[in-house]
Amino acid sequence: MSTVLVLNGPNLGRLGSREPDVYGSANLDDLRALLRASAREGVVIDLRQTDDEAELIHWLYEAVDERMPVILNPAAFTHYSYALRDAAALVTKAGLPLIEVHISNPHARETFRHTSVVSAIATGVIAGLGFNSYRLALDFVTQP
Ligand code: DQA
Repeated sequence: MSTVLVLNGPNLGRLGSREPDVYGSANLDDLRALLRASAREGVVIDLRQTDDEAELIHWLYEAVDERMPVILNPAAFTHYSYALRDAAALVTKAGLPLIEVHISNPHARETFRHTSVVSAIATGVIAGLGFNSYRLALDFVTQP
């Protein structure tokens, strides 16, 4: 049994009703169900969301301590949280994969979204594919 942490940052708890033209009409429960349905046998999906930077950072510590791969949608923290970046770096420095994912393509949106302070320390980045960004990340981190 291996667990993958799927961590979601601020405002993603509002998926489903938040800017459906950008993020679609499915919510986090739908995402959890999709990932559980597409996970390889023996893979446990632990999907969480918080609006709290400190909580997200502590979950990244947990990933290091429990040696869990991470799929991270840092949401708006992507663009400015050096604290989150430093915590995410602990994961990849520990030799664990951390994939930065985005539902939308931030590069096709406002200029402030073009910068990610997380990408440089991530194992990889997948953006713009809706929930498929997470699904492809899951495939990568659980490949045999
Ligand atoms: C997002 C993109 C971010 O710019 C934005 O702040 C989000 C969601 C995405 O998944 O497309 O909250 O990370």
